[in-house]
Amino acid sequence: MSEAKHMVEQEPPKRSARPIRRELVPLFDELRGERVIVRPHHISDFDEMWEAIQESRDELRPWLPFADQSPDDLRAWLTRAEARWLTRETLGCAVVDRATGRFAGNIGLMIRDWEIGYFEIGYWLRTSAAGKGFMTEAARLVTDFAFDHLWANRVEMRCDARNERSAAVPRRLGFTQEAHLRWNGTFVNDALRDTLIFALIRTDPRWPER
Ligand SMILES: CC(C)(COP(=O)(O)OP(=O)(O)OC[C@H]1O[C@@H](n2cnc3c(N)ncnc32)[C@H](O)[C@@H]1OP(=O)(O)O)[C@@H](O)C(=O)NCCC(=O)NCCS
Repeated sequence: MSEAKHMVEQEPPKRSARPIRRELVPLFDELRGERVIVRPHHISDFDEMWEAIQESRDELRPWLPFADQSPDDLRAWLTRAEARWLTRETLGCAVVDRATGRFAGNIGLMIRDWEIGYFEIGYWLRTSAAGKGFMTEAARLVTDFAFDHLWANRVEMRCDARNERSAAVPRRLGFTQEAHLRWNGTFVNDALRDTLIFALIRTDPRWPER
């Protein structure tokens, strides 16, 4: 009897009611923070993005597969990014420095499971825009949008366990480290790598002062 009561009390909350047609959910023209603007990618981002990737190849290469892509790879990626925005598969966005209007990097909100409101954020910064708090601010804006406008129940960030600068972003924002997966993937030279998983769920306190 007492065991059954305990089970009822432990029952997890139900997922929130959500629109079935995600393609019709309103998105944004821009998310405005104190120092950055996050806005959807356009094909016209090519020149600035190409320049940013050239500048940052050495920093991107250990962690992201596109560091050595060709110009046509990037053009194709931008075309797909616009299409995925329309179908709400991934909200791929430019991070822009408000002070200069310059392209600073990229942040994407991937829809892992629309039905349960499960999202994942990925990101990179050009080398000259790093170390200023831009990505922490951008990730906060995108996380707020997911919880406040996309009925998110869970927002996740993942990174290679050796990527300390990447892991510092969710840590700075108070995400919980939920897992350290050992040897769950490969990357450069087929070397086995570990993955860290961080998450914030709907009932977690958002943006605790640290
Ligand atoms: C991951 C990555 C985006 C992190 O960049 P970052 O500059 O460290 O992150 P932020 O923009 O949030 O800036 C935080 C830094 O700015 C500093 N900073 C300065 N002003 C700040 C402010 N107002 N608010 C917050 N941080 C501020 C912080 O102290 C921190 O520096 P520190 O680590 O030396 O203490 C970047 O390293 C990168 O693009 N790496 C290559 C690609 C990659 O690994 N992507 C992730 C794959 S999972």
